Amino acid sequence: MTMSHSLFSKIAALAAAVIVIAGCSGKNDSTIRTKVPTRPAGQEDVIGLTAAPIDTIHIGFVGLGDRGSSAVRRYRYVPWTKITAICDAVPEKVEKWAGYLEEKGFPRPDGYTGLEGYKELCERDDIDLVYICTDWAHHTPIALYAMEHGKHVAIEVPAATSIKECWDLVNTAERTRLHCMMLENCCYDFFELSTLQMARQGVFGEILHAEGAYIHNLSDFWDGYWENWRMDFNYRHRGDLYPTHGLGPVAQALNIHRGDRFKTLVAMDTRSDNGKVLFNKKKAEGKYFQGEEADEFRNGDLTCTLIRTENGKSILIEHDVLTPRPYNRMYQLVGTKGYAAKYPVEQLALTKEQLNAIGIDYPLKNEHAPLPKDLVDSLRRKYPTPILDEELERKAKEVGGHGGMDYTMDYRLAYCLHYGLPLDMDVYDLAEWCCLAELGTISMENGCAPVEIPDFTRGAWKKTDGFKYAFSDGTMR
Ligand SMILES: NC(=O)c1ccc[n+]([C@@H]2O[C@H](COP(=O)([O-])OP(=O)(O)OC[C@H]3O[C@@H](n4cnc5c(N)ncnc54)[C@H](O)[C@@H]3O)[C@@H](O)[C@H]2O)c1
Repeated sequence: MTMSHSLFSKIAALAAAVIVIAGCSGKNDSTIRTKVPTRPAGQEDVIGLTAAPIDTIHIGFVGLGDRGSSAVRRYRYVPWTKITAICDAVPEKVEKWAGYLEEKGFPRPDGYTGLEGYKELCERDDIDLVYICTDWAHHTPIALYAMEHGKHVAIEVPAATSIKECWDLVNTAERTRLHCMMLENCCYDFFELSTLQMARQGVFGEILHAEGAYIHNLSDFWDGYWENWRMDFNYRHRGDLYPTHGLGPVAQALNIHRGDRFKTLVAMDTRSDNGKVLFNKKKAEGKYFQGEEADEFRNGDLTCTLIRTENGKSILIEHDVLTPRPYNRMYQLVGTKGYAAKYPVEQLALTKEQLNAIGIDYPLKNEHAPLPKDLVDSLRRKYPTPILDEELERKAKEVGGHGGMDYTMDYRLAYCLHYGLPLDMDVYDLAEWCCLAELGTISMENGCAPVEIPDFTRGAWKKTDGFKYAFSDGTMR
């Protein structure tokens, strides 16, 4: 499979195109500037985009590996939806999952196979949503083709692997007025949902700093990816290749492009130790290596990115899939009056003054320890997320998918499409969360210099005041 390599060459060439200048733009300012392409004439932003309500959402799934097949299993339970077609490069997978649905009492979906089978699926006129779960290199080409053929798209993470792909998705969504959402399921985990609600209610004061990560030792998983796409990508690319699980939930809490925006980043990685050893071992076994040889294994064992926002907030994002650290998405919100953290144990902290201000009478002994569990529980009851009622929470836990967050995400996507509402996450979220990979590489390859993060909304980042969800009664809450 040579596609990852050609993609890398493309990205390297495009990196040169997105940088305007690596040099001074003011006194002591060595920020590398990035180009924001002019919005094509007649095209408008898609902030708050709505589309016609869809009674039954006909879905075509593309990519039926580990993630795509779990989605197919979950969608048996998602209301207002029908699995109309499925597609995978490997014919046996299409046969397996079509048979599975039939066996479970659902109509047999139409099947498409081969690397370009998705085209026929997208060309049908009876599909509303194309749900993409392929390897990373295929996400954007499939999404663009689907939108060009009038379909909404939902794309697994990361939806785009380069700045060029981010802009292609933004421009196509703006021109076609179709939804283009990245399936960032970590925005729907229960702790993130309840602390996002607390953040929106001002419980933590002003959030000044946040942290997020993808720390996941993938040693049990490398062998399972189709044609070794993931190791191949790590072999050929430097930078945080999987930033969105860490970044998505904290970006929502910081109201990114809803009053604030990412402005600058700097990135730094470690040398590659474990990555090189693993890659060379597997290569000697005849695994993990396809296509043209690169100069060296490029991904550092650990990559850190620091972002500063227009409103003077900071965010730390980490990527580590090669060391034995236990699973950790970090998820920290650091406010002027409070704090939330999820790993390794869920914690909240508040000042005594803030506890009083939110109407809680509790004899807090000191302010430098986490709140006791009973208080955390009562705060979580006091600030429930508006998108989960008891029934949906029960169903999400029963159907599952990372403990229920996947089902909650699927449900919200279907709910908003069914009622013709703006989706929880738009194409600008997608671009802002995915652009970290290539921008981080540019930073590191220029001595960890600051790099400007493009404003993908092209000036519309203040149009909405704070992160909100849409509801069928017409409210945004
Ligand atoms: N959100 C999450 O929690 C989460 C978890 C796991 C994976 N993912 C993401 O899901 C995606 C898939 O990961 P995976 O673990 O299922 O990988 P996988 O290797 O198991 O599956 C990829 C599938 O895509 C198919 N495919 C590749 N190119 C195709 C094409 N052009 N047309 C049709 N099918 C094609 C392959 O045959 C394979 O079945 C990745 O983007 C990954 O990052 C997300």
